[in-house]
Amino acid sequence: MPKGNGVRKLQEEILKLKKSENIFLPAHNYQTPEIQEIADVLGDSLELAKLAQKEIDADLIVFCGVDFMAETMAILNPDAEIFIPDPKAQCPMALMCPKNIVTKAKAEHPDLPVVLYVNTLAEAKAEADVMCTSANAAKVVKALGSDKVLFGPDANLAAHVEKKTGVKTVPVPEDGYCIVHVRFIPENILELKNKYPDAVVLVHPECDMEVQEVADVVASTSQMLNYVKDSKEKKFIIGTEIGLVDRMRREIGGDKTFIPASETAICRNMKRNTLEKIRDVIINKPPENLIKVPENIAEKARTALEAMFELTK
Ligand code: 13P
Ligand code: SF4
Repeated sequence: MPKGNGVRKLQEEILKLKKSENIFLPAHNYQTPEIQEIADVLGDSLELAKLAQKEIDADLIVFCGVDFMAETMAILNPDAEIFIPDPKAQCPMALMCPKNIVTKAKAEHPDLPVVLYVNTLAEAKAEADVMCTSANAAKVVKALGSDKVLFGPDANLAAHVEKKTGVKTVPVPEDGYCIVHVRFIPENILELKNKYPDAVVLVHPECDMEVQEVADVVASTSQMLNYVKDSKEKKFIIGTEIGLVDRMRREIGGDKTFIPASETAICRNMKRNTLEKIRDVIINKPPENLIKVPENIAEKARTALEAMFELTK
């Protein structure tokens, strides 16, 4: 699609500011195409968390994603100055798992390891033994060697993990979910499969089990991207937020076709970040956009994140 002049001008303005102020701009796969185009790096939660472990040679980081992702980067880079373009870019799933729910579950099941999805806020992360992402949840749980774990907040990811590992998951909270991914329904996917019988169906593990069951591949966003890049097939039905379909079309394109399993799978929270807000946060550096995690919480959360890296290396 041809870019409007306004978008291009803003992108150029940000690119100049990025250079003159030595700014690093990582972005999640669900950011808008115009943000994806100017990002220094794009990735899923695991790739963005791993980035945080590396030396980032920048004076300031502008993290384009939702709160828990920016916090993860701050936890792993305690000395970095990290801004988010819109502090209201919050993940509703992370809000479903406040710290007190985790401490209550721990008191009820003192012998079980606590595995939390990175889609949690720092205070909850600090209560976990180990974190996981959609890319490595099954690997983390298997590596623990326990036949039962406390797992939260996503009940669908928990079901995916149970299916892959045979390890029982006790949900924390009872029914955490992603407001975007639970809207996919198997009927729509089956209809698309009828229309495109040679298409491969890829869905995110945050989708309901009935949706996962009609898919060929259940994977994180970047795992889906890599799968379609490497595949010899030509048509792919994509069951996740539309930003990933944008990235596939832009980066892979060619003779491959990407069919969204739903055109309305849009994470409004991710999409709160805009080019205007990125430009303004660089110029004004408002304190409310600065990601701050108190060190007593960050220290514990860091231990749980590092346990994830250790178990999956
Ligand atoms: P990924 O880590 O697979 O990119 O997922 C993040 C997320 O928020 C999914 O809704
Ligand atoms: Fe959270 Fe779902 Fe948005 Fe991912 S897509 S950030 S889990 S609300």
